[in-house]
Amino acid sequence: MKFIMNSCQVIFFAVVLLGGILHLSRGRDDVNFDINYNITWGNDHVLSLDQGREVQLSMDIQSGAGFGSKLSYGSGFFHIRIKLPEKDSAGVVTAYYLTSHTNYHDELDFEFLGNREGKPITLQTNVFVDGLGNREQRFLLWFDPTADFHTYEILWNQHHVVFYVDDIPIRIFKNKTNIGVNYPSQPMQIEASLWNGDSWATDGGQTKTNWSHAPFKAHFQGFNVGGCPLDQNSINIHRCYSSNYWWNDRKFWKLDKNQQKAYQQVRQKYMNYDYCSDRSRHPNIPPDCV
Ligand SMILES: *[C@@H]1O[C@H](CO)[C@@H](O)[C@H](O)[C@H]1NC(C)=O
Ligand SMILES: *[C@@H]1O[C@H](CO)[C@@H](O)[C@H](O)[C@H]1NC(C)=O
Ligand SMILES: *[C@@H]1O[C@H](CO)[C@@H](O)[C@H](O)[C@H]1NC(C)=O
Repeated sequence: MKFIMNSCQVIFFAVVLLGGILHLSRGRDDVNFDINYNITWGNDHVLSLDQGREVQLSMDIQSGAGFGSKLSYGSGFFHIRIKLPEKDSAGVVTAYYLTSHTNYHDELDFEFLGNREGKPITLQTNVFVDGLGNREQRFLLWFDPTADFHTYEILWNQHHVVFYVDDIPIRIFKNKTNIGVNYPSQPMQIEASLWNGDSWATDGGQTKTNWSHAPFKAHFQGFNVGGCPLDQNSINIHRCYSSNYWWNDRKFWKLDKNQQKAYQQVRQKYMNYDYCSDRSRHPNIPPDCV
């Protein structure tokens, strides 16, 4: 049997491979959980493993659990490694996100929507600015996210927000303040959680959590933080746009040619919902989509 890839696929896999090599060269990211994070809820559903280099959140009918960064940040290249709950995880949501906790909040979301065993887990992303969200884009993944750890990253600088899966850019939210689209500008904390979302998460809420499979367990690694720390109420966020932070460097202002190709490829093949093309929810194309 012959295995033929077209040039887009070759580039896509080359970037995947390069991403893997970059990760290896960065070395093991083995900062202790307690350095940058603390548990925010469900204390008795959190387990520290590998001397604090790994954390397990579990969820049963009593509770889920969550943790958050001690500090807020005004820019950064944030990352975590996650291994999702295995087997039947319908209704179970695993989340990794940045949020400002303000009345009109900014938020950048990765939400993994569990599913019945053998059915694919959906990765939902969302962007809130000044309290306004409704910007869901959903993806299937090109690997089984329950089988092993994978890296999920959010780049946030003055120019764009980029969501990455294993170093593949899957979503970009550009700074389009020049055409009147608001852009995240509030200090945000990093959070992660495991919780029951069976009112909406799987088949629009029709497929419920099967509690006979509890406890559900999600594993997290990679607790060092590449971010510009800032006071929650700081008005001095401009300090975080300084070129002293590597993620503000010109090379992170837009994707290079190969990343751009991988981005297009991944969206073409794996994106299965895009608010930008949902005319029933957004009769006019939202300006941030143009
Ligand atoms: C964890 O961090 C939050 C947010 O900063 C804070 O409110 C809480 O007191 C901290 N908890 C512990 C146990 O340090
Ligand atoms: C958006 O971009 C403009 C320049 O085009 C810049 O002045 C502004 O600080 C950016 N906004 C944010 C919130 O990063
Ligand atoms: C829940 O899981 C149990 C054990 O696997 C199974 O017997 C039962 O049919 C499942 N319930 C639903 C609604 O799928």
